[in-house]
Amino acid sequence: MKVFLTRQVPEEGLVLLRKEVDLEIWPGRTPPPRDVLLEYAKQVDGMFTMLTDRVDAEMIAEAKNLKVISNYAVGFDNVAVDAATKHGVVVTNTPGVLTETTADLAFSLLMATARRIVEGDYLVRRGDWVSWEPDLLLGQDIYGAKLGILGLGGIGQAMARRAAGFSMEISYWNRTRRPDLEESLGLRYAEIDEIMQESDYISLHLPLNDGTKNMVSKERIAMMKKSAILINTARGGLVDNDALYLALKERRIAGAGLDVFPKEPISSDNPFVQLGNVVLAPHIGSASVQTRTRMVRMVVDDLLAVLRGEKPERLVNPEVWEVRKSIRS
Ligand code: DGY
Repeated sequence: MKVFLTRQVPEEGLVLLRKEVDLEIWPGRTPPPRDVLLEYAKQVDGMFTMLTDRVDAEMIAEAKNLKVISNYAVGFDNVAVDAATKHGVVVTNTPGVLTETTADLAFSLLMATARRIVEGDYLVRRGDWVSWEPDLLLGQDIYGAKLGILGLGGIGQAMARRAAGFSMEISYWNRTRRPDLEESLGLRYAEIDEIMQESDYISLHLPLNDGTKNMVSKERIAMMKKSAILINTARGGLVDNDALYLALKERRIAGAGLDVFPKEPISSDNPFVQLGNVVLAPHIGSASVQTRTRMVRMVVDDLLAVLRGEKPERLVNPEVWEVRKSIRS
């Protein structure tokens, strides 16, 4: 069996994989170009992919041997899942394992943006700290403030638990209301527009799909309070980023903490880089040593399970199991 891994990941997690398959690893710091990915897709039984690899429907149709695409992320908007299902290709992801780590980053961005920590760091380094001043870098309170969470999956819930520690008043919107969590997490359900209007902080924890694309639209950004801060550690495509940029530039909202962008990476001439009221991160939601190591193990377990003919634990397209029986076996 052949497996293509599209980026170097913590090596210790690969021992098992190397024992059972012929493993090829893309050596680059950036993702393999589409033609390279396509060539491998045509040859291999399994692909160990990153969220930066676009595995589209055409590629899957040409990948006659391919049995499994194991994505090293909880999100899987980079994989044409419907096409995979149609062709009997199993898609797996890494849910759960990165929940707390990503919520840590979301809350860190919230705090860094609210308390202007990055601006303060620059000020000190530039040698501009001339004195304690009554109005130096005034930020927003976090304790007791209103937090709106859009998307109450695992990461949204983990965000709520952190916010509860700061006595925040938490509202949430989720596609399916979760009354079972409202009491235990101290949450109130609200419609999206109400959350946009009322919240001091809005944190996004939704997957990107046709239903959520540009959900934080120009109109919704215009609803936000002047003192409000938007945190996005989910996917850049959830937000109208042009409208967000203008709102931040014109100080119609106070700030944003952004780990994700519609097109990544962003370069140093991206307009967001010019704004002092934005804290930027390079898509590092799950980037802790412990979590990334666990993610490798998960991907390897699921990939090997499929190649051995067993059902993997984390199936993005469970319906594929039947399709697979009729097409591939
Ligand atoms: C994911 O796993 O989808 C995250 O975006 C990684 O940080």
